[in-house]
Amino acid sequence: MVSKDDIINALKNVLFPGLSRSLAELDLIKDINIIDDKHIEITFWIEPFNHPGKEDIEAHSVIYLKDKLKLDEVKVKFSEMDENKRNEFLSKLTNEERKRLYASIIPRFSKYDFKNVIVITSGKGGVGKTFVTSMLATQLRKMGLSVGILDADITGSSIAKCFGLKEKPMVVNDKIVPVESKTGIKIISMNLLLPEETNPVLWRGPLINKVLQEFYERVDWGPLDVLLLDLPPGTSDTHLTIYQSYPVDGVIFVSTPQDLATMIVEKGINMARIMKIPIFGLIENMSHIVCPFCGKQINLYGPPQGIKVAAQYGMDFLGKIPLEPKISTFVDEGKIEEYSNERLEEIAKKIKQKLKL
Ligand SMILES: Nc1ncnc2c1ncn2[C@@H]1O[C@H](COP(=O)(O)OP(=O)(O)O)[C@@H](O)[C@H]1O
Ligand SMILES: [Mg+2]
Repeated sequence: MVSKDDIINALKNVLFPGLSRSLAELDLIKDINIIDDKHIEITFWIEPFNHPGKEDIEAHSVIYLKDKLKLDEVKVKFSEMDENKRNEFLSKLTNEERKRLYASIIPRFSKYDFKNVIVITSGKGGVGKTFVTSMLATQLRKMGLSVGILDADITGSSIAKCFGLKEKPMVVNDKIVPVESKTGIKIISMNLLLPEETNPVLWRGPLINKVLQEFYERVDWGPLDVLLLDLPPGTSDTHLTIYQSYPVDGVIFVSTPQDLATMIVEKGINMARIMKIPIFGLIENMSHIVCPFCGKQINLYGPPQGIKVAAQYGMDFLGKIPLEPKISTFVDEGKIEEYSNERLEEIAKKIKQKLKL
């Protein structure tokens, strides 16, 4: 049976729109009514009562609580603050936050000099997100774009390895300077900041949120045509934070035929939809293997499903990438920038057409 504590804990990950702070931290949960195992009702305090972020609060908490606590229905209501509550709430905010609260628009992190912020995600791990992120960065860079990669998979970061990077980022004037790859891709990853590359990161949600904010705001990215975000799998706290706080222009889903057959990616698609994040499309990775002797296509994980699933969700199919032993060799040796083929160039071209440049 779900408890009030479970609900409050989960709401530590749902942010108040425009203030990188959670509904739980700001004490905005007025009432929790657990109807039964699968149905709950929550009332939030809200200020001002006509706050334009109400719809977001509702959507974000419903999708998150349903997923985290395996609920069938989450009803959300709002209650106007009385004077005492309002004073208590406002005293938790800085002057700057109070100003933002009463401004009519809800700012996400400002966009700095990024023309495009693109998320790469998947239903589960090991399907090739990190490979796709580094491959895409490499291809776009080759086309002359300025590219950055923010490794948002804090606890499983592996971007640096693909590029063979080991040096630590420098801190200049209190700003972290991203490490540059051989071809000039700017990269920030938890791995680069840890004393030992193999140290496990055992942080929980709120700390990860803080790091995600720092990676964006305290890193001296400079102007970029594209910032690519490599996300952890699934519909994690990181997704919620990124979708709520980052000015995301598009999401790319990476999936294997097996996952597509079992629709493991569906939750992720729904999450992006509900949170009104534009979807760029789907890449089917490890779609098949080509026999090195006869050139015949072998469907190792069942027939490719990408085109069908993309159509089912009304999104673009961006292409398929076969399983190729060379890929893992280049990745393991940190030489992803030396790997290319026509298929990958095609995928990158399709994505480039969707960018605002
Ligand atoms: N198309 C592919 N062919 C061969 N190996 C691949 C391919 N895509 C990814 N890999 C390898 O599979 C492993 C998992 O990929 P990775 O990108 O780390 O997945 P994720 O980031 O989704 O967890 C890595 O060792 C990577 O080099
Ligand atoms: Mg990864």
